Amino acid sequence: MIIVYESKTGFTKKYAEMLAAKTKLEVFRVDEISKISQDEEIIFLGWMKVGKIQGLNKLRNYNVKVVCGSGTGQTAEPDTETVIARNKIEDIPFFYLRGGCLPLKEIKGMDRILLSIFVKMLKSSKDRDEKTEEAISIIENGFNGVKEENLVPVLDFLNGKAKENSL
Ligand SMILES: Cc1cc2nc3c(=O)[nH]c(=O)nc-3n(C[C@H](O)[C@H](O)[C@H](O)COP(=O)(O)O)c2cc1C
Repeated sequence: MIIVYESKTGFTKKYAEMLAAKTKLEVFRVDEISKISQDEEIIFLGWMKVGKIQGLNKLRNYNVKVVCGSGTGQTAEPDTETVIARNKIEDIPFFYLRGGCLPLKEIKGMDRILLSIFVKMLKSSKDRDEKTEEAISIIENGFNGVKEENLVPVLDFLNGKAKENSL
């Protein structure tokens, strides 16, 4: 089993490296996929963009056993069920990892345009609840939610799988 990841600003990469340190599994970027045999079991970690797990499509013909998506919310956004359906991973265990984001002014290109539109939408919403305020602040000021403890459910799952295999 190996770890493969896709990360744009480094938060998902950090999780992939933490997971590699904990499990002693080898870690690859998704653009190194040609080095990997199609039979190899893969734990995939990708950042999420409008509910799509980035990089996952490049692994459609590979043996992906676990998928982790990183986003900035406390939970997967729009919600776990939508993420699973939108990424067609109904038959693969999915784990959400809270990642982070750079301050808006440090983000470039199309992503900055998309996030700017999103912030405007949030700011103009009629009932700006706590969650909305948090989302606005996270996008404008940046946020780092990467924590080792967030990997515990993934590690527990992998340990369970390892036990199953040794029975
Ligand atoms: C344009 C854009 C769209 C995003 N859409 C989502 C989303 O739909 N759901 C979510 O949870 N996070 C979303 N995010 C947040 C990123 O997935 C999050 O910041 C992630 O941890 C970044 O990982 P990276 O540093 O590895 O690139 C979005 C970020 C950008 C820039």
